Amino acid sequence: MTIADTALPPGLAWDAERGRLRVLTPALADLALRDPHIITGVDRSSPDMAKLVPAEDEAPSITGFFELWYTVNDDYQRFNTELRKVFTPRSAASYGGVFAELADRYLAAMPAEGDLAKHYLAPYLMNSTFAVVGVPESDWPNMTKVALLITHLFKQQLLGVTEHGAAERRAFETIMLYLKSLTDRLLEGDGDAPFLTAARELASGKRTTWPIAALIGQLLMAGIEPMIVGSAVAARDIWSDPALLAGLRDGSVDAGEVAEELMRRQPPFGYLFRFVSDPCDCFGVPLAPGTLIAIDIAAVNLAHTPAQSPVRGCPVRPSAVLTFGKGAHYCLGASSARLQVATGIHALVRRTPPVHIDPAAVRVDTSNNLKELRAVPYTTRPTTNGAGLP
Ligand code: HEM
Repeated sequence: MTIADTALPPGLAWDAERGRLRVLTPALADLALRDPHIITGVDRSSPDMAKLVPAEDEAPSITGFFELWYTVNDDYQRFNTELRKVFTPRSAASYGGVFAELADRYLAAMPAEGDLAKHYLAPYLMNSTFAVVGVPESDWPNMTKVALLITHLFKQQLLGVTEHGAAERRAFETIMLYLKSLTDRLLEGDGDAPFLTAARELASGKRTTWPIAALIGQLLMAGIEPMIVGSAVAARDIWSDPALLAGLRDGSVDAGEVAEELMRRQPPFGYLFRFVSDPCDCFGVPLAPGTLIAIDIAAVNLAHTPAQSPVRGCPVRPSAVLTFGKGAHYCLGASSARLQVATGIHALVRRTPPVHIDPAAVRVDTSNNLKELRAVPYTTRPTTNGAGLP
């Protein structure tokens, strides 16, 4: 008998179309995230790590670059320990002023009409993340190219595309060599970003700085898109609710609380994925090795405390929310991401002349695990209907 034919206990559902076991309750999600038979699906003891690392003046291949990421190789424990020391709520808070200044800067530069993701959220959230990594402002335009190409190629990899044209490979090589030289400059320079403290510790005594360059690429890939998606989905809901928009504008409602509640309901990532590594019956049913476990983040978030008016903020503690994961792999950038999103929304609702977003015109594609924005049209011209577009 296979899992597809087994009667499942409440909180589990077999998704026959996608061939995976959906987990829908907090108790079962906790079990899956702690169970030693259920793993992230990556090999942490690759014997070929040394062979993966390119020479100092050579670029890795596209697939080789993704294998250098610290979460998928035997550097995980060492990197994770150093990084967790510096990605703290306190160090995120030290960037509050930088985030607010950048949000205002990109709001002021917005054309009168356009797409909110392109004209505000992307420049604000990319550049504020570069600031967290300690990248000097003169490098931000080049780093934008790095972040865009890495994100594009990573999405292709998830879709199974591993063949790339000559022009794309050349562009990749150029941005890799730039990223490597920037990494060396950052490590040797006197920048005092907390991230650079960890990066210098991780690089000390090592023969190559490629793993640090890959780490910087990985952080950009991991963080920027979900923050853009989370902010845009929150903006759509805020502009659907005039009382909420008014409360945020007059300061009676807190942007961080609202963003937390809106991302609890509609998390940027749909699922946390895990794999069964050894036969087990920890869920009360026999699970075969290789079974794909998909923890439904929104279902778990809302199982005990359904969505409520966001004017009242988030009704549960951050630790009871799965939006940023839980346990050993809890999001490294969660504190910074929460503050970047909240600061961006706070500034957006207060912009003068005001921004108008028509919630009905916002298009979000939910077919991949990370939601994707298709359109977030806005205008700053006076509107005929108050909240919507003219
Ligand atoms: C709204 C924005 C964000 C969301 C919703 C989000 C969500 C998540 C989730 C759900 C996980 C856990 C994945 C799992 O257990 O399988 C995760 C892990 C991670 N996130 Fe985020 N993230 C965001 C922003 C960021 C930012 C800004 C950074 C970096 C600066 C970042 C870096 C990471 C890293 C490195 C991991 C892997 C941690 C580990 O395996 O130990 N994320 N994120």
